[in-house]
Amino acid sequence: MRSCSETEEIKFLSSHMLAASLVSSPYKMTSVKDLAESPGLSSIPSAYTFRKNQNDQQSSISDPEPDDSIPIIDFSLLISSCPEQRYKIIHDLGKACQEWGFFMVINHGVPESLIKSMMDTCKRFFDLTEEEKREFEGKAVLDPIRYGTSFNASVDKVLFWRDFLKVFVHPQFHSPAKPSEFREIAMEYCRRTREVARELLRGISESLGLDASYIDKTLNLDSGLQILVANFYPPCPQPDLAMGMPPHSDHGLLTLLIQNENGGLQLQHNGKWVNVNASSNSFMVNTADHIEILSNGKYKSIVHRAVVNNIRTRISLAMAHGPSLDAIVSPAQELMDRENQVPGYVGIKYKKYLELQQSNQLDNKSCLDRARI
Ligand code: OGA
Ligand code: NI
Repeated sequence: MRSCSETEEIKFLSSHMLAASLVSSPYKMTSVKDLAESPGLSSIPSAYTFRKNQNDQQSSISDPEPDDSIPIIDFSLLISSCPEQRYKIIHDLGKACQEWGFFMVINHGVPESLIKSMMDTCKRFFDLTEEEKREFEGKAVLDPIRYGTSFNASVDKVLFWRDFLKVFVHPQFHSPAKPSEFREIAMEYCRRTREVARELLRGISESLGLDASYIDKTLNLDSGLQILVANFYPPCPQPDLAMGMPPHSDHGLLTLLIQNENGGLQLQHNGKWVNVNASSNSFMVNTADHIEILSNGKYKSIVHRAVVNNIRTRISLAMAHGPSLDAIVSPAQELMDRENQVPGYVGIKYKKYLELQQSNQLDNKSCLDRARI
């Protein structure tokens, strides 16, 4: 690993738009849940009007091109003792990371009943009164429990049709005190998804031609940061004018997503927006910025967004898995040496990256762009 020189890090920090605003200013927020429930709401307040890019093209995977369907990874093969099966699935995993940055994981072994309980308890959290939820509002972007609306309501130019709860669940486990069963269910769900993510990262390491434990060891995943992000998207009277989450890439290594309603997540693939229709009981997994940095751009973090609808409330649970907060992530030296590459990204401490990504506007890959050399 290249060491992160002070000057590189300072360059990364000072070139960033709002490095100083690590603490969001006090903002009296209205949740979109409250807004959506206001009687007779037939249009959205202008602050929520999101201009989609005029050139955005949509393609639907209900009508996929022959080689254009979202990859599926059978997790049971990844943990199989049969070397041929493992060899093949690692090849498929690498191909999915390189061509999509997204795949669906089936046969992952996390019980359906646990997934359902987790979804139910998150729904009950959002059903608490605003006053109860505000107890968990959080002030700084790295506060371990943070309830809020939009992405960063104090800096967002446009507000997003989304309320959220973000909880740091590893290396220290945190939980809101309400609903009362949240803690126990979340602890088990987070443990199980963390195991799946670590196994996927072993496979991804191997697919890059590195030792299976490379990512685990180099980024100290025993203390890896895991954040539970619950997203709440209530029905929106003008879904074409609003956006649940704008185009962005995630900050960590891998995100595992589940949802209560199919439809809403879209991926940017070959210049088009692709709708994801997940098969039930699968995890939707996307590669995030630190996989792109580590692989020196071989596996790009995928740009995705969440659109809203005017009929049903959609809840999604994103489990973000990242390096240890203290880890300095740079392109893997072994890859540079083997393939005679020069690093395309500066080494950055994950904690700094996370603070900056979370305290600025969410805008495509603007945070990662700062780290490019
Ligand atoms: C996220 C995210 C998408 C969704 O939480 O980072 O991209 O479908 N969510 O809710
Ligand atoms: Ni995301």
